[in-house]
Amino acid sequence: MDFTFFNPTKIIFGAGSLEKLGATVSSLGKHALLVTGGGSVKRSGIFDRAVASLNAAGVAVTECAGIEPNPRITSVMRGAQIARREGCDVVVALGGGSTMDASKVIAAAVLYEGDPWNLIAHGQKDWHIPTEALPVVTVPTLAATGSEMNSGAVISNDDTKVKSFVQTDCLFPKVAVVDPELTLTVPKDQTAYGVCDIITHVMEGYFNGVDGTPIQDRFAEGVIINAMEWGRKAVADGSNLEAREQVQWASIVALNGWIQAGVDMVPPMHMIEHALSAHHNITHGAGLAIVGPAWMRFAAKALPARFAQFAERVFGISPEGKDVQTLSKEGIDAYVAFLREIGCPTRLSDVGIGDELFDQYATDAALVLRDEEGRLLGRPPMTKADIVTVLR
Ligand code: NZQ
Ligand code: ZN
Repeated sequence: MDFTFFNPTKIIFGAGSLEKLGATVSSLGKHALLVTGGGSVKRSGIFDRAVASLNAAGVAVTECAGIEPNPRITSVMRGAQIARREGCDVVVALGGGSTMDASKVIAAAVLYEGDPWNLIAHGQKDWHIPTEALPVVTVPTLAATGSEMNSGAVISNDDTKVKSFVQTDCLFPKVAVVDPELTLTVPKDQTAYGVCDIITHVMEGYFNGVDGTPIQDRFAEGVIINAMEWGRKAVADGSNLEAREQVQWASIVALNGWIQAGVDMVPPMHMIEHALSAHHNITHGAGLAIVGPAWMRFAAKALPARFAQFAERVFGISPEGKDVQTLSKEGIDAYVAFLREIGCPTRLSDVGIGDELFDQYATDAALVLRDEEGRLLGRPPMTKADIVTVLR
């Protein structure tokens, strides 16, 4: 194994930790840009509590509301304009992955003179990887992306229908104030999609990483098993705080770099899903529930032993009298059954997507993470035809 691990984000975790927001932010700045989504934090009263905590600690607040799911670059530009105009010196993200991602790129865009899309335009002309950003504090209200403790952000461009990402050290949040009580109001469907996102983050490394990472394998299997166990409970009863806590912590550890250390992960399921949500604005986790199993059936043909291990260790399926192909198929079937049980779509037709743009999705999916032959990186690498097969 060969890796560098870095994650400087401080975590303040626990029910009621929202009350610590003001004191936390006041050590980073005097005037916060408080970034929120489409209104859930207003309805639940979280917004007022956050503002009260900030004001009590002497932090002035300017709001940037209305970050949409699958956030657009236009919202980032708007947020950066507000922050500049009002002289904000710290960005507080109060919401799901979309709000947290937009906040990170706003924090970088405030200090960047060029077109903010350049910060996202991975591998394209004028691409500019940000090197500085205002300090960001994340306050997740939905357990899914792990954005609260990682340096990534995913932003869409409505004009070009491209959904791209940035991942760089200056975007690590300074602090994540993680209060699982804030997730009690997340509806059943979003809870389930979040669980699928968490599991898929772990699976990307587990299936697409290098061989010879036994400790990481066991971490990954443990997180998947727990995400399923507690995710099931959170979906069945959204008011179960213990389940919300476990799912929230799972979302953090699934994508804060720890499980990925030494694994050399590439995320083909995510690249295919991003191509779908760029065009159709479906929830990311729901898209993964559709793409994931289809991709697994494709990849299991190349790496059946890996999928057999998954079946045995994650689902406890007995290998006795079975060849690896059968065992790996049973594991994938068990995973699909879990997704259906918690209410995830598992087919494109479930979310009303037809095959008209399959070629386009396949092209978009391999736009950035591609090998010299233009194939989407992963194990195995995928040609455009492979991606279309998976989609079909
Ligand atoms: O916008 P509001 O009104 O807040 O409602 C949201 C939204 O409609 C709602 N919600 C959030 N917290 C709630 C709540 N509803 C009730 N109670 C609460 N406490 O949930 C809906 C979805 O929110 P969103 O933030 O879009 O979901 P998610 O957290 O799944 O984020 C998805 C975005 O993150 C990107 C995805 O591509 C997508 O754009 N990702 C970011 C990653 C990262 N930064 O590392 C990695 C991921 O793989 C992913 O790609
Ligand atoms: Zn994801």
